[in-house]
Amino acid sequence: MADPKKLFIKTYGCQMNVYDSERMAEVLGAEGYEQTQAMEEADMILLNTCHIREKAAEKVYSELGRLRPLKDEKPDLKIGVAGCVAQAEGEEIMRRQPLVDLVVGPQAYHRLPSLLAKTGTGQSALDTDFPEEDKFDHMPARPKATARPTAFLTVQEGCDKFCAFCVVPYTRGAEVSRPASRVLREAQNLVDRGVREITLLGQNVNAYHGHEKGLAGLIWALAKIDGLDRIRFTTSHPNDMDDALIDAFGTCDKLMPYLHLPVQSGSDRILKAMNRKHTADIYLRLIERIRTARPDLLLSGDFIVGFPGETDQDFEDTMSLVREVHYGQAYSFKYSPRPGTPAAEKAAVDDSVAQDRLHQLQALLSEQQYQTQASMVGRTVKVLFEKTGRQEGQLIGKSDYLHAVHVNAPTTDIGTIQTVQIVENATNSLAGQLA
Ligand code: 5AD
Ligand code: SF4
Repeated sequence: MADPKKLFIKTYGCQMNVYDSERMAEVLGAEGYEQTQAMEEADMILLNTCHIREKAAEKVYSELGRLRPLKDEKPDLKIGVAGCVAQAEGEEIMRRQPLVDLVVGPQAYHRLPSLLAKTGTGQSALDTDFPEEDKFDHMPARPKATARPTAFLTVQEGCDKFCAFCVVPYTRGAEVSRPASRVLREAQNLVDRGVREITLLGQNVNAYHGHEKGLAGLIWALAKIDGLDRIRFTTSHPNDMDDALIDAFGTCDKLMPYLHLPVQSGSDRILKAMNRKHTADIYLRLIERIRTARPDLLLSGDFIVGFPGETDQDFEDTMSLVREVHYGQAYSFKYSPRPGTPAAEKAAVDDSVAQDRLHQLQALLSEQQYQTQASMVGRTVKVLFEKTGRQEGQLIGKSDYLHAVHVNAPTTDIGTIQTVQIVENATNSLAGQLA
């Protein structure tokens, strides 16, 4: 048998891209490609790109430029661009960067084998369609590859919300949910390989409708799988948090007490301009209800500062919402105009003002994150061990609240859930001892 060809994938952006990269590797595995971590030895390099924020396309072009010497050295090397930049800029990429052999959008990667066959034949190896068929039905069953205790599972893709700043509805298309039966099959398959925690992914995952009872229905069905101990989901829109889902936080033991629920801004004026379709108050009342169902829930969020038209008062409203909610963890970004989105037409906030607001907000969010971590010291939590740590004898895992925890424990504990006493708050993780 010929030596397997080597595939190197570089993944940018969100967890869904991480999942997509795994699935693309599986599709290409069936074509004789084996993954490598060393770019220099690759026969094929795939960049799985992200378009959500600033300079995404430019980063892809400069990365491609850096691949030129590799291609010169090995003319058979295939270079592909996948993901959301591929979707948004496919033709342009092919035109501007002739060393690219193929371009594949996020909804078309099950067609990688036929695209691959087109490379080098003079035919265009570009596919940015939104095909009718479900790509997941046209991919190899998930092979029994290396077992890891945690996995991502995409259950929903695309978004119909059209927030004024966001490219997702354009790059990922309309909301589509995978039928619950297929998700359950894939989950069972993952559990058979040793996975104990699954994070359900979707751009707007709580709008999932592949189960008659929505995302909560899917979670309850997954909770019946023996050996699956932890369920998480991300990312959600406040308007799609239905009663059943809120209730599940209080009643489903396997649903972890962590919720990423972006609000983006605390100003009603800006929320309206963002087309978020909710007010700050609606969000705050929602948080109250979720915390009533699960008082120890760790809340995470996303924020944008410097959205067109944002005044000092609007920004203050965001700061006061953050003070009121108290986030355990959060991401904050300076607004960047995305081509083709409605907000991109509007006049920008002065960059130094936006930068200053970002610093203020990040300082507040870091303080809250630190306090949340500090409040774990002395507590006993459950940790699912995932891998060895940097120091000899150390394992790293995640608590129910998604904090990274390091503990001295034998490697045989990888893949097990143990009770751990938190003893110290280190910057990026917590130190614990087996209880
Ligand atoms: N500018 C800045 N941040 C953005 N996000 C999405 N689009 C933009 C943009 N144009 C942020 C939002 C979203 C997160 C994934 O990325 O906060 O929730
Ligand atoms: Fe983008 Fe999220 Fe808004 Fe959808 S809900 S448009 S993915 S920010």
